[in-house]
Amino acid sequence: MWKKYYRSATLTVFASVFIAAPPVFADEFTDADLKKWQAEFQSVVAEGEKLFHSHLGSNAVGCDQCHPNGSDTHPETYPKFQKQLSKVATLRDMINWCIENPAEGEPLALDDPKMIAIEAYLTWERRGEKLDPGKH
Ligand code: HEC
Repeated sequence: MWKKYYRSATLTVFASVFIAAPPVFADEFTDADLKKWQAEFQSVVAEGEKLFHSHLGSNAVGCDQCHPNGSDTHPETYPKFQKQLSKVATLRDMINWCIENPAEGEPLALDDPKMIAIEAYLTWERRGEKLDPGKH
């Protein structure tokens, strides 16, 4: 009987919390917000494209020489096991691998705005592609 009492008391507490809790509203934004965010995103993509055609390392090798228009970068397959790194790697790890190896440069910090711009450019080039993490 006590058990029953506790159970209904617990239910009452739960019910009142749910009823009393404020409803969760989706984030609200206007068309002007959307335009502004899209423009900011596109400016980062454009910056990434510029970097991709520049020399990020110590030699005269640019990313576009081996990956014209971001080809063969497969951002949609990350994270995945990458044999050059012997681990499950992110796209940013592979961007750095190419900066350090073919381009003979210093790796970027993973949150460097340049790294984010290159990632934005590569994923934008492959927009619409089905996510396929782990794929080779
Ligand atoms: C000299 C040619 C060369 C240059 C220049 C080069 N890469 Fe690569 N890149 C490669 C090779 C080779 C691989 C390894 C392919 C593999 O096994 O996945 C690769 C792989 C990649 C991958 C992963 C591809 C995948 O299929 O998973 C990314 C991302 C990438 N490169 C980005 C860059 C960026 C960013 C730059 C400029 C800093 C760059 N690459 C410059 C040759 C190059």
